[in-house]
Amino acid sequence: MHKGLRVLVVDFGGQYTHLIARRCRELGVYSEIVEPEAAEMEIKAGDVGGVILSGGPRSVFERDSPSLDLKPILEKGIPILGICYGHQLLAKLLGGRLERGRFREYGRTLIRVLEHDDLLDGLPGTFNVWMSHGDTVVKPPPGFKVTSMSKGEIITSMSDEARKIYSTQFHPEVVHTEYGGKILENFLRKICGIEAWWNPGDRVKELIEEIRSQVGEDEKVICAVSGGVDSMTTATLVSKAVGDRLYSIFVDHGLMRKGERESVEKTLKKLGVKNLIVVDARKRFLEKLKGVSDPEEKRKIIGEEFIRVFEEEASKIPGVRWLAQGTIYPDRIESGRASRQAALIKSHHNVGALPERMKLKLLEPLRDFYKDEVREIAKLLGIPDEIVKRHPFPGPGLAVRIIGEVTEEKLEICREANAIVEEELRRSGLYDKVWQGFAVVCNDKWVGVMGDERVEGYIVIVRIVESVDGMTADWHKIDHEILERISNRITREIPKVTMVAYAATSKPPSTIEPC
Ligand code: XMP
Repeated sequence: MHKGLRVLVVDFGGQYTHLIARRCRELGVYSEIVEPEAAEMEIKAGDVGGVILSGGPRSVFERDSPSLDLKPILEKGIPILGICYGHQLLAKLLGGRLERGRFREYGRTLIRVLEHDDLLDGLPGTFNVWMSHGDTVVKPPPGFKVTSMSKGEIITSMSDEARKIYSTQFHPEVVHTEYGGKILENFLRKICGIEAWWNPGDRVKELIEEIRSQVGEDEKVICAVSGGVDSMTTATLVSKAVGDRLYSIFVDHGLMRKGERESVEKTLKKLGVKNLIVVDARKRFLEKLKGVSDPEEKRKIIGEEFIRVFEEEASKIPGVRWLAQGTIYPDRIESGRASRQAALIKSHHNVGALPERMKLKLLEPLRDFYKDEVREIAKLLGIPDEIVKRHPFPGPGLAVRIIGEVTEEKLEICREANAIVEEELRRSGLYDKVWQGFAVVCNDKWVGVMGDERVEGYIVIVRIVESVDGMTADWHKIDHEILERISNRITREIPKVTMVAYAATSKPPSTIEPC
């Protein structure tokens, strides 16, 4: 068994590529996502113990569909696992035969194992897998044997054990594939021979050392903290490395959750992070948002104003050379490909333009980690659970949970209603089980009665979703008693609300946040 070898996940644009890399890391093997063109260089760099070819939206029949030079991998005898598009690409490159879009299988499919090779070792004779494909391999390449077939007699996996090449038409990385974890574990342990060695927590000391060696002794660092786990972990790591040469800036744009500012102040103090600068910019943001109801416009205004405020504060500190940012692995990989592959659904809040504008060097200590790994690091650093386990919160804050114009009145309702949803989720033990739970304030009114009087009040929508990565989400089938408690509290404690509704739509077709 090898220790310390990494696995490359070659990205053909599949929606589950990150999931493959995360699963490998969960199994204790460090994995990195690379573009097909970069794979050869990585192989040459050494310490690669396995290569996984991801799925992708294209068809291998299309002209210019993405491909890969297998030679450097095969020459080194590095095991390969092709998934979906990766499976079809292997068939194409190694001399198999494919048919275009004749069979379409989506979703759950039962498969039958014909031969238990190392990949399928220890699995039952039939099990359910998750498929999404149009093209199919109808004849495996020379040297390969078919190891499983679907109910519809489609080749669902094949292997050439002598050359250590394996592939599946289905997605072992998604939870809907039974034994998917076992298949990936078989690939990593039995086929690649890599034992579990990767543990993000082990890297804390190294990360601090790295920051210390990067930042010159008379240089200062600034960091925007928001109360989220990424920025708090970044600030804590940097502070451990450079002490009071770190200046953390918290821009209170007034769109924060209830108690967020206090929680940041309290936590950073407890962690020994000095020089926290709190900027009260609440009026400024509200002023800019006046009369604006278009969601994208709101996001743009908040992003730009945030940069302006941050820049103003930073320029007051002499000797700043570095900007520390809580960028994590998916942010980094996605930003490169978003422009090419994905359609813009919402422009996410980020301060990407800052370092260039301010001529600062960038420190991104969390750039190689997934969220769950950041949480592990945060815990080791002593960041409290209240922050580590906090639900994701969008950069533009409550502004995206207010439909239409952001007014002081709606903001107040939104903040209180969100606090009630969070409190009740915690009280019922649901908070840590769901991805996100929050409240949205609508623009329209609902007629209500108060005493004997007719009143027009706000509509609040409660949204609670389950998700693994925020890319897709299911609405949470909430217990009616919990919902009733949330609804009663909202109308009782926020008299301006006359109707509470519950969002019963998944993503897709909806998105998680309303704006
Ligand atoms: P949507 O609404 O696009 O959200 O389904 C997916 C996930 O992303 C969060 N979200 C954001 N996160 N900046 C962020 O850092 C943003 O501008 C932003 N907008 C949405 C959202 O809360 C959900 O978890």
